[in-house]
Amino acid sequence: MTSTSFARRYGPWAFVAGASEGLGAAFADALAARGLHVALAARRAQKLEALAATLRRERGVEAEVFPLDLAAPDLVDALEGLAARREVGLVVANAAYAPRGEFLDQPLEAHWKAVDVNVRATLALAHVFGRPMRARGRGGLVIMSSMSGFRGTALLSSYAATKAFGRVFAEGLWEELGRAGVDVVASCAGATRTPGYLAITPHASGVPEMSPEAVAEASLAALGRRPTLLPGWANRLSGALMERVLPRRLAVTLLSRTTRKLYG
Ligand SMILES: NC(=O)c1ccc[n+]([C@@H]2O[C@H](COP(=O)([O-])OP(=O)(O)OC[C@H]3O[C@@H](n4cnc5c(N)ncnc54)[C@H](OP(=O)(O)O)[C@@H]3O)[C@@H](O)[C@H]2O)c1
Repeated sequence: MTSTSFARRYGPWAFVAGASEGLGAAFADALAARGLHVALAARRAQKLEALAATLRRERGVEAEVFPLDLAAPDLVDALEGLAARREVGLVVANAAYAPRGEFLDQPLEAHWKAVDVNVRATLALAHVFGRPMRARGRGGLVIMSSMSGFRGTALLSSYAATKAFGRVFAEGLWEELGRAGVDVVASCAGATRTPGYLAITPHASGVPEMSPEAVAEASLAALGRRPTLLPGWANRLSGALMERVLPRRLAVTLLSRTTRKLYG
């Protein structure tokens, strides 16, 4: 799809949740490069301002910042305010929180927060911005899921479960909203070299890593083509192994061995 037809289909504004760094910042840049104005949300205002300034200067688009906590109880009010003001044609539900370690050794609040950011906020984004998209008969929603959502994984059990939610939710919406001209895709990324990933991965994980830019590009290219994407051939190969070859129990054991090596 050319930039012009992309902007016609998914513009004029895109909302990127979790845009202050990593994959969210890469999505924002890729969308601005296609001529969409970008609304950037995350908690760190300074990082959002810096990215917005760069995108205005280098991509020639409008960029607005929304310093907000996606786990806040008044999230829907904030999103509705924006939806009333701006014609948002594309949403990237990218922010996530991942409690790491034995489930019982983390405070319950950490797991609630993962549900709030990864599940509750994703539902809110899809509902608030999805309604006007359906009414317009066009639009797009990218939900950042993860290969962690394919199978349960030790030390990431609540995070992995929220990522499974994102994938299954996107599949249902792909069918429902697709009928109204709104494209939905779950991007099930594998290891991606973002600041968040690098900060918690102290040594080489031994699994192939992708750049955030490559994952963002592949995810946007998948819109309108399929409900679920595994970016990169190596991820597709290990996804096929996990889903079609290995018995579920063995897949969980092998994945958990990796997370124990990384985070144990
Ligand atoms: N990196 C990987 O290897 C990988 C692999 C598979 C899937 N994914 C998925 O890809 C997405 C992005 O990953 P990433 O590695 O780029 O993550 P990251 O580096 O940890 O960045 C997450 C983004 O979300 C924002 N965020 C987190 N909590 C928030 C909250 N409560 N309210 C508002 N914003 C919040 C952060 O900004 P602030 O801190 O400024 O709020 C940041 O911009 C996630 O959904 C993740 O599950 C990543």
